Amino acid sequence: MSSHAWWQRGVIYQIYPRSFQDSDADGIGDLPGILTRLDYLQWLGVTAVWISPIHPSPMADFGYDISDYEDIDPVFGTPGDFARLVTELHRRDLKLILDFVPNHTSDQHPWFRASRSSRSDPQRNWYIWREPAAGGGPPTNWRSEFGGPAWTLDEATGEYYYHAYLPQQPDLNWREPGVRQAMHQVMRFWLDRGVDGLRVDAIHMLVEDESLQDNPENPLWRPGMSPARQLLRVHTCDRPETHHMIAGMRRVLDEYDDRILIGEAYLPIDRLMLYYGESLAGFHLPFNFHLLSTAWNAAAIAALVRTYEAALPSGGWPNWVLGNHDRARLINRVGGIAQARLAAMLLLTLRGTPTLYYGDELGMSDAEVPANLVQDPWEKNVPGLGLGRDPCRSPMQWSSAPGADFTNGEPWLPLGADFKRVNVMAESADARSMLSLYRALLRLRQSEPALTVGAYREVRSDADVFIYEREYEERRMLIALNFGTQARSMHHPHGEGSIVLSTDPGRLPGGPCHVLDLAALEGVVAVLETRPAVARSSG
Ligand code: NOJ
Ligand code: MG
Repeated sequence: MSSHAWWQRGVIYQIYPRSFQDSDADGIGDLPGILTRLDYLQWLGVTAVWISPIHPSPMADFGYDISDYEDIDPVFGTPGDFARLVTELHRRDLKLILDFVPNHTSDQHPWFRASRSSRSDPQRNWYIWREPAAGGGPPTNWRSEFGGPAWTLDEATGEYYYHAYLPQQPDLNWREPGVRQAMHQVMRFWLDRGVDGLRVDAIHMLVEDESLQDNPENPLWRPGMSPARQLLRVHTCDRPETHHMIAGMRRVLDEYDDRILIGEAYLPIDRLMLYYGESLAGFHLPFNFHLLSTAWNAAAIAALVRTYEAALPSGGWPNWVLGNHDRARLINRVGGIAQARLAAMLLLTLRGTPTLYYGDELGMSDAEVPANLVQDPWEKNVPGLGLGRDPCRSPMQWSSAPGADFTNGEPWLPLGADFKRVNVMAESADARSMLSLYRALLRLRQSEPALTVGAYREVRSDADVFIYEREYEERRMLIALNFGTQARSMHHPHGEGSIVLSTDPGRLPGGPCHVLDLAALEGVVAVLETRPAVARSSG
């Protein structure tokens, strides 16, 4: 175990800072708020916290449009609050991972202001400027992820600039050495201040094809899908040059001891694996988002785990993500509470670092956000397709008090309608709650090396049931998950042992597991006896 790094043994918890805890009644979460909840995180049993961006930002994309990489936005607090956060997390043996947004700045960043000021500005080439197409109009057909063209004309200088996201998020030009140096300095700035790792935003969008060709049509696009997907991102996404840039970031990170670099890339498994880098000199963890998009049944999930495990480069450490601030809440994706309990058991017993999204441990669901309260620019630009991300960003539900104890003011997004029932205070007093299940799973995972760092072996899977083992030295654990809505009884051939945890709060622990009687939508974890085969057959 000690040969594994903290991020291999640990569990990451994502905080969306606007929505976790407000301390000054402006309805927006902040760092002093987070500071008052560190005991909760420790009690829950996670070991690292990733916080979405907290830097000065006009908030066109709620912090993913940064106007100063080396400061804290006043809405979130002060550099002093940040220093306290580092100290207090470390005092509790918790790690801190910050978001690092290299693909684009805010259009209000001084670099972009200089760059757009004239064609001959020394920083002109820090962004991606192009002449209009021959007949006028944007240089290519490239689309913004958030709807509309990916090029915006700057009237004053007569050129277009490229933005993979909003016009307020111009893309940096990573081919420019000055950009690389400046962004490496940003990394050092936070690593020098004790940050344990960086989650690198939108890495698959970092570099574009210089030849400036149009992207081809996507034959699989249908109305109702994101308009950006009408084109295949052949020239704008997952470009080979990106790996050179990642290796540069990794070298900066490796100037420091024991830090982690995580990459955000939504890519097919074979492409994702390249982000570990040649000789593993890329990301420690390229985020694995495939649980967010897989069909939710035993056969599909077992096949996903099999494919992912088989595709990992030698020495590459796996990881699994079950929710984040860009996707519908777990409970809405998997179809209900029992399914979400099963998903929690899956996430926390698979091999590889798990990442939890705040509130999923309570079973929070997507909040209703009426049209007049919509905040997310994506929903505003492309309304009605369900692309908006406000519903999964609703305030953390701490108690049944007004404001859910998230705020004493008016929350920036509406609270979930169920907050009087689904909240930390109620659930921590209820042994059958989702929160109690998460705590038990986290405690089990962190106390059993077989679950933390052990080997993975699939035992069987069919349309409804997925069974696997985890093993470390002499310890073997069995995980059996019934995704079906029928009870199932199965013989486990080498399954002497006993059940230690079930997703079904009605089951008493300690039952045998050579015959597994699983209720509908039940999952169990069992400890297997590892006696030699001879002793087993005679005993
Ligand atoms: C990915 C982030 O997770 C998302 O929230 C953001 O809008 C885009 N990158 C652009 O930064
Ligand atoms: Mg506040």
